[in-house]
Amino acid sequence: MGKGHGYGKVILFNEHFVVYGIPAIASAIDKKTIAEVKKCSSNEEFILHDEREETPGYKKEKMEHQRESIIRIKRAMGIDQCIEIWLGGDLRAASGVGASAASCAAIARAIADEFGMSCSDAEINEFAYEGEKAYHGNPSGIDNTCATFGGLVWYEKGKDMERMSVKHPVEIVMGDTGIVANTKKAVEGVRERKEKMPELYEKIFDDAKKLVYEARDAIMDEDWELVGKLMNKNHELLQKIEVSSDELDYLVNIAMKAGAYGAKMTGGGLGGYMVALTPGKELQEKVARAIEETGHYALRTKIGI
Ligand code: MEV
Repeated sequence: MGKGHGYGKVILFNEHFVVYGIPAIASAIDKKTIAEVKKCSSNEEFILHDEREETPGYKKEKMEHQRESIIRIKRAMGIDQCIEIWLGGDLRAASGVGASAASCAAIARAIADEFGMSCSDAEINEFAYEGEKAYHGNPSGIDNTCATFGGLVWYEKGKDMERMSVKHPVEIVMGDTGIVANTKKAVEGVRERKEKMPELYEKIFDDAKKLVYEARDAIMDEDWELVGKLMNKNHELLQKIEVSSDELDYLVNIAMKAGAYGAKMTGGGLGGYMVALTPGKELQEKVARAIEETGHYALRTKIGI
């Protein structure tokens, strides 16, 4: 039996903008998907037991993408034989937390382990990227990079990621709207609007680029108040390109009212998760409870782990 893991992630700055080559900052979180893989002798491509916890409806909605994704990973790894796959771990399958990328990295690692292939992390990342194409169309690669390598990363499409480090991991809360979102659709929507309104979008994209360099300095200085303010600004830019939603904005406001340093949507948007920066256990608990009181799931985790 082969075994593998992939980390969940949170994008702190510039999801969507990253698709167009603008730098982004993301962090792996301390929640993982675990895959186990065993060779089997059926004529099927694979037999899947998806035992991950989920936001209701997520697995059903993603079933077709998941099927294509597993076949893509198998092809990329040169595997023809049927495999039996078990998916588990403590990362809840939901939109916005890198669930698809975490499962792709975990499956690629578990296949490599089962078939005795000694793959580097860079190779696993390539296979996970192939799998991600089924969910995203033309992914920037940020999600599979976090899922494979972990840590806090500065990411530019087509370049090697750069590691960023902080002395102490910082608490965040991720609030789930409970809406299963379609990342492919969100990314296509941005492309269409960008083509229709090139001047407006150029200005917004320029602002996103300036902001992420400021954010990098603020994170390096561990100036969390400034990081929070920049997250709020990033959320405004994401609202302008129409990838936020009423439910995301609502949870962002709840988190800010409860004292978060900053809050924004995270990932593909149109549903899925938001993230609030909440340094210290006490503030984290306060913000998480405020989100839970609205009936939404709150994930307590850290960045820079
Ligand atoms: C999705 O987690 C992040 C997006 O920027 C898409 C991508 O980078 O491929 C929306």
